[in-house]
Amino acid sequence: MKVLIDEAKIQERIKEIAKQIEKEYEGKQIIFIGILKGSVPFLWELAKNIKNDIRFEFIEVSSYEGTESTGKIKINKDIAHDIEGKDVIIVEDIVDTGRTLTFLKQYLLEKEPNSLKIAALLDKPSRRVTEIEADYTGFQIEDKFIVGFGLDYNQQYRNLPYIGYIE
Ligand code: IMP
Ligand code: MG
Repeated sequence: MKVLIDEAKIQERIKEIAKQIEKEYEGKQIIFIGILKGSVPFLWELAKNIKNDIRFEFIEVSSYEGTESTGKIKINKDIAHDIEGKDVIIVEDIVDTGRTLTFLKQYLLEKEPNSLKIAALLDKPSRRVTEIEADYTGFQIEDKFIVGFGLDYNQQYRNLPYIGYIE
């Protein structure tokens, strides 16, 4: 396993994003919607560096046929509380093709939150097939399959404290 982004660098960048969110949401309650399972480490590092009242919701989705080409998303586990009128931030590990977030943004907007933004730890812009951008991005990376800090390869490696790749 090779290290692409080490733990210190990840934490430093997440703290910067946390400060930015604190400033923009000054004093407001924020609903974090974490996309299971990959967002969990990022969600927690981000939340613990923000002083606002943060509430947590989780949603789990998967691709229909498991194939990349169909691109159809289905919800395995939905959020548990109403978000109407709330200030919501979707928290995701990585924006790759953008299909997951395009679907979820649309889905959650129908619930009429007061605001809806996206925070993604990583971004692979070269892989995008839908037009979507995170409002807060940790790192832009090249088209490389990475693991760690929530990201998996067949469910393995999520608990690595850094972001790495297999050579
Ligand atoms: P998208 O819908 O193509 O943007 O898919 C995003 C999802 O694909 C992420 O939530 C990850 O679960 C997964 N993914 C994309 N790239 C990687 C990677 O390099 N390593 C591990 N998982 C990835
Ligand atoms: Mg994922």
